Amino acid sequence: MALIKNNSPVLFFYSNSKKWLAKISKKESFHTHIGVIKHSDAIGKEYGSRLITNKDKYVYLLEPTMYDYVMKIQHGTQIVYPKDIGYIIARCGIGSGQKILEIGTGSGSLTSFVAGVVKPRGHVYTFDVDENFMKIAAKNIEKAGMTKYVTQHNLDLKTAKKMPLKDMDVAFVDLGDPWVVVPQVRKMLKGSGCVFAICPTMNQLEKLTMALVENEFTDIESTEHILRTIEAREGKTRHSFQGIGHTTYLCFARKAFFGRNPKKSSVKSKTDLNDVEKPAAKTDTTATKTSKKTSTKRVKTKVQKLS
Ligand SMILES: C[S@@+](CC[C@H](N)C(=O)[O-])C[C@H]1O[C@@H](n2cnc3c(N)ncnc32)[C@H](O)[C@@H]1O
Repeated sequence: MALIKNNSPVLFFYSNSKKWLAKISKKESFHTHIGVIKHSDAIGKEYGSRLITNKDKYVYLLEPTMYDYVMKIQHGTQIVYPKDIGYIIARCGIGSGQKILEIGTGSGSLTSFVAGVVKPRGHVYTFDVDENFMKIAAKNIEKAGMTKYVTQHNLDLKTAKKMPLKDMDVAFVDLGDPWVVVPQVRKMLKGSGCVFAICPTMNQLEKLTMALVENEFTDIESTEHILRTIEAREGKTRHSFQGIGHTTYLCFARKAFFGRNPKKSSVKSKTDLNDVEKPAAKTDTTATKTSKKTSTKRVKTKVQKLS
């Protein structure tokens, strides 16, 4: 039986909209509209049990899950939500022991969740260019207990001359212009490895899909995931009034070799497009052009391990 001790993580749960994540510190207490919650009242209790505030309200002591951490993280940026993360993990076949490349750490929401799936033998290598966001992400990753399984790099892969990784099982891209890094992602992915990118608009989805075809990716799929909450109560169960509108679209694809000999296959080869849905419009080569242009600029880059 897991008993709550000093330093144990606890989710103080009153209702879906009133819950607090904390590390137990015996001298601490906090004031809420349902009364004072004293950490010391939780010590020695089993997870799942409850305490009573000075206003006679019950608060349950729950063991936090990754969902709780992600929903409570400090947001420096827009984050990927659990409703999408579930499908991402399933669609990319993410499992224990895998090596994951992530471009665009942001607040570290996706990073933490996926690190929790690939640990203890797998690892997430995550890249960002904003040191401020990287610090916020490092704190969030630490709170989620995932620091050991994540390496943060301060490096812009759009302009990097040499790719720092290879044979990655899966790659995530969460940038405003994901199509720009498709050639770089290709170099770091293993054959048939899955790339997944976040695209808040349909225009981004279009550009990305064209770049994926250009760069010999197959099994391309774009999706949107809408979560509807149901308020279930005797005699009056209905949809919740609260709901998230549009969050983002997701795009998935897998690295393929369109040429006959994988070793000789060129990224720019347009032969053997059998399995790939060709875009109806003229293929936009912006991605290839942009990456060529930026790769000629010399930028000062460094690789930083924060954890
Ligand atoms: C929307 S956030 C990512 C959110 C993240 N997926 C999460 O769940 O918390 C986008 C991030 O991409 C980063 N970024 C922008 N350009 C980049 C680049 N060229 N290389 C790496 N990261 C970049 C930004 O600094 C920002 O932190």
